[in-house]
Amino acid sequence: MDKLIATGGGPLQGRIRVSGAKNAALPLMISSLLTEETLRISNIPHLHDITTTMELLGQLGVKLQVDEKLAIEADASEVDSVTAPYDLVKTMRASILVLGPLTSRFGRAEVSLPGGCAIGSRPVNLHIKGLEAMGAEIRIENGYIIADTGGKRLRGARIFMDLISVTGTENIMMAATLADGVTTIENAAREPEVVDLADCLNAMGAKISGAGGDEIVIEGVERLHGADHRVIPDRIEAGTFLVAAAISGGKIRINDVVPRHIESVLDKLRETGCVIEEGDNWIELTAPVGRLRSVNIRTAPYPAFPTDMQAQFVLLNSVADGTATVVETVFENRYMHVHELQRMGAQIELDGNTAVIRGVRQLHAAPVMATDLRASACLVLAGLVARGETIIDRIYHIDRGYDCIEEKLAQLGASIRRVPGHYLERRSA
Ligand code: UD1
Repeated sequence: MDKLIATGGGPLQGRIRVSGAKNAALPLMISSLLTEETLRISNIPHLHDITTTMELLGQLGVKLQVDEKLAIEADASEVDSVTAPYDLVKTMRASILVLGPLTSRFGRAEVSLPGGCAIGSRPVNLHIKGLEAMGAEIRIENGYIIADTGGKRLRGARIFMDLISVTGTENIMMAATLADGVTTIENAAREPEVVDLADCLNAMGAKISGAGGDEIVIEGVERLHGADHRVIPDRIEAGTFLVAAAISGGKIRINDVVPRHIESVLDKLRETGCVIEEGDNWIELTAPVGRLRSVNIRTAPYPAFPTDMQAQFVLLNSVADGTATVVETVFENRYMHVHELQRMGAQIELDGNTAVIRGVRQLHAAPVMATDLRASACLVLAGLVARGETIIDRIYHIDRGYDCIEEKLAQLGASIRRVPGHYLERRSA
């Protein structure tokens, strides 16, 4: 298994371009199931989760072509299976997104329950409830969610989401595009990725209005057609690089980004003392001379501060001046990075979903283990500001969601390299 070796060093400087957003690309690729015509999606990031999605769609019978610019053409005219098997769903929870499109277009879907997850229980009850409200019969059998419409079209319904769920909103929105009648999703997720999906579905002939607000209205149509869509930039990748520059005392420019998608993050970075300039599609960050100021954070659904940036800000606070509180309100058990940061000298106290962090001047290197996607990114960044050489194990988590992270960081002057697991074993032998 590969590892990353990061050595603490000087400020990150330079410019990078962010890749297409993973969380937008996955539902967009899956939406190809809704039409028998070809859907072309460009600006696809180079990630493991994309490969997993291609494998999943391939098993369902979708024909996929990738061109040299990483655009994907998906042709779901000959789908011959409606089963999403456990071995794929367990590696990527977003596989649950096939449930809505398959049920809506083919009247049946069999999707493995995702099972345990490193960042809390993450149930899918809202996805199920939404489809039931549209007339699907759903039962759980042998660990699979089996949805069946009895050969009928789904019908429009009014659906209230008890909790704001991103993939829950996306699943229901996709299913509703082909339903008979009007569906209203109340308390919908407002994330930019939901809007991107709605834009693509509308380009395919769907009639969706209100995406980006908390009530989305979908007027069902009989069929959708092909389209050509470009994935929005990854706001979490952008935010992660901004934090890297801030904690290293650097200055970077990020291109191909949508600044308004991360206003809450930019606001917090300003509070730390960083100077931020932004244009239509770029952001420039200059870290202050001296230490950053610590900042209190409370995660919540968009447009509030994203849970996917929580780990990076726990790290930022670990090296900032002062004491700060971070409250995680979206997921239970999303603090695995805290124990690893503590091993690097961070002063963090955990009490339920609250972390109290007293900044220290310097972290020190340690062997650490990646546990989930964003926690891993925080450990890589920690390695870049810690004294010594930090070895990060289990980096397949990072490869699920960050496109060439070490290459982009190296481009900014970071000392980081990827080595095969056996290289380190040989070295220590
Ligand atoms: C998506 C993102 C993930 C991000 C998260 C929150 C994708 C592929 N992933 O995950 O990166 O961290 O949004 O911004 O887009 N819940 C239920 N029942 C449900 C569904 C959700 O109780 O049926 C709860 C979850 O346990 C969690 C909260 O709702 O506490 C929000 O989860 P949700 O928005 O659904 O996260 P995902 O869509 O899985």
